[in-house]
Amino acid sequence: MTEIIKTASEWKQLKKSDAHKEKKIGFVPTMGALHAGHSSLIEKCVKENDLSVVSIFVNPIQFNDPKDLLNYPRTFEKDFRMLEDLKVDFLFYPDYKEIYSDNFKYRVIENELSKILCGEYRPGHFDGVLTVVLKLLNIIRADRAYFGEKDYQQYKLIDGMCRAFFLDVEIIPCPTVREDDGLAMSSRNLLLKSEEREHAVKFSKLLQSNKLPQQIKAELENLGFKVDYIEEIDGRRFGAVHLGKVRLIDNVKI
Ligand code: PAF
Repeated sequence: MTEIIKTASEWKQLKKSDAHKEKKIGFVPTMGALHAGHSSLIEKCVKENDLSVVSIFVNPIQFNDPKDLLNYPRTFEKDFRMLEDLKVDFLFYPDYKEIYSDNFKYRVIENELSKILCGEYRPGHFDGVLTVVLKLLNIIRADRAYFGEKDYQQYKLIDGMCRAFFLDVEIIPCPTVREDDGLAMSSRNLLLKSEEREHAVKFSKLLQSNKLPQQIKAELENLGFKVDYIEEIDGRRFGAVHLGKVRLIDNVKI
């Protein structure tokens, strides 16, 4: 049975109870709309720790586009069934007031990596991500926290923040999970119309090809994608494109 916890103080009490103190805690923060990419993180978390905690919180502060927040898929019943099937011990499911009692007056800002790639096209996005992750990590006080490499820039920023602020948590990156045709799994894939879904795979295929970034960009534009960027940094190729109303990101090791 997965137990739902809604407040930080409830979790604090539980964590220090005789049944739970001294236990290794693993944590997977999510915004819900769970898919096989999430289940791979959650399975690892359940296997490697005595207690597993997953959070579901659609963090409004990290959505720079209000329409994106409005359209973000919300599938709580299905998500909860998945957590039960995966034998997750606790779901942390706070509301906005619980997380942002300060109304986002206090925030975490990183000044280099958060300004390039997605940060350039989504101003303020990573301030919202880092702030909510810091709050969640401070509440849950896990030994290990798991993040998908599909959001590689996010993973690097969170890892850097934890080291910069001396947080006592191990940040564990987990490989991108792909659909059978190679498209990286993402909650936003649910928003693609069927013809867009067929088209989307060309983005992953081109990103994984041995062509140059500018060639990939030109081919994607010819195929009708609006390209934010295709860039190679530190041995990885990163890309972000728009297909209809949906923004897709991906990255591969080169
Ligand atoms: O990757 C996500 O789902 C979110 O950015 C995260 C890390 C849960 C923070 O809201």
